[in-house]
Amino acid sequence: MQVKASAPGKAILFGEHAVVYGKPAIAMAISKRSCVEVLESSTSNINVNIKDLGIKGCIDFNSGAIISDSPKKGILKYILESIKKVHDGSGIDIGIDVNIPIGGGLGSSAAVTVATIAAVSAYNEIDLKEEEIAKYAHEVELAVQKSASPLDTTISTYGGLIYLETNAEDIVQLDIDYDIPVVIGYTDTRGDTGKLVESVRIRRDVYPDIINPVIDSIELITEEAKQAILENDKKRIGELMNINHGLLDALGVNTKELSSMVYTARNAGACGSKITGAGGGGSIIAYCPGGTGNVISAINETENALNADISKEGVKITTLH
Ligand code: MEV
Repeated sequence: MQVKASAPGKAILFGEHAVVYGKPAIAMAISKRSCVEVLESSTSNINVNIKDLGIKGCIDFNSGAIISDSPKKGILKYILESIKKVHDGSGIDIGIDVNIPIGGGLGSSAAVTVATIAAVSAYNEIDLKEEEIAKYAHEVELAVQKSASPLDTTISTYGGLIYLETNAEDIVQLDIDYDIPVVIGYTDTRGDTGKLVESVRIRRDVYPDIINPVIDSIELITEEAKQAILENDKKRIGELMNINHGLLDALGVNTKELSSMVYTARNAGACGSKITGAGGGGSIIAYCPGGTGNVISAINETENALNADISKEGVKITTLH
């Protein structure tokens, strides 16, 4: 049996980092998807080949050891934790195309995790519901990163535009019948989500009276943004993104490169722009209801930009007997 599964990356529109403290966030699935293929191995090993990143490894299921000489083998931890949920340890070959910039705040690890859990469970004829895939994937992110909200894994599982309350059980699909045209700009520097979440936690522990109100303000922005999105109030959406960016700066996750892209986008006509995801490198999102062309060209002069659409489709499984 051969099984393929894919799952989308995401871009957070509002509320990253605050979501770790039980605050709401709004995110959209994007049209970039990670793909995972599983088939029986001719050996008794669990072999992983991340094709687009050139990472190969072998997982010892019993000891949990990852054997790989790739310097970027960290991503294999997500595969190990994922298969532990839904596999018995028999020999399989897992082929992966991540297709989403790693560490770009675009949910690449969640997309790989969701697609791996979906593909390996289907290979083992375990019929998981979407909520079970989302739950397992969140547990995997927690096991690898130590600290993570269910946001990335939820949006990757369900797709669409999601308002996430305090946990994966409180998700609301925001049903809108218009587009939210955005440009995602990404730098060559990469943020480590686990470390960035930890750095915000430390800043909050050191300055609780200052940082807790920042997190509370992000919550207010997200609530107001939900209304603005439902009303398609473009000006308000843009302004709220700009304020949210300032507060992410206060949390310490901004960088010179991200800041520069944020202002480049605004100067090129974006209605609003901000860091998306964990920051510290990674990506920005620019809201461009007036057209994305100028913003893409302006960002491309120094960094990389991609057009993103909402992906209404979440995790998708194809079984080939
Ligand atoms: C990362 O894409 C979003 C963060 O809020 C972390 C998380 O929610 O797990 C920074």
